[in-house]
Amino acid sequence: MSLITIMPSGKTIEAVEGTTLLAAILAAEVDLTHNCEGNAQCGTCHIFVHEGRKGVSKVAREENEKLDSIVGVGSKSRLACQAKVLGTENIKVELLGFGSGL
Ligand code: FES
Repeated sequence: MSLITIMPSGKTIEAVEGTTLLAAILAAEVDLTHNCEGNAQCGTCHIFVHEGRKGVSKVAREENEKLDSIVGVGSKSRLACQAKVLGTENIKVELLGFGSGL
C-alpha cells in the first residue's frame, strides 16, 4: 500500500501494489486525460513523479518510446497508465496541462 499525493490539488489516495498511477488518480476523482485508455500510445497521461520514484515500476520500452516523442519530458516524467505502484514507498505526482486544473 502506498499513499499517493496528487499535485497541484494536494489530494491523497491509498493505492495497492499493482495499481497504475492512472487508476489511482482516477479513483481519487481527479481528472487526467487518457485518450488511448492506458496503452502507452497517446502520451496524454504524462505526469511528473516528484517523490517515491523507486516506489513505481521501471520504465519499459513502450513507455520510453512514447515519452521520447513528447515535448517537455524530463527525468521525472512517466506515463501514468504505465507506472505501477510497487507499494514500497509513498508517491507524489504532479499533473500537467489539462488534468492539472491550471
Ligand atoms: S493513456 Fe495513453 S499513454 Fe497513457
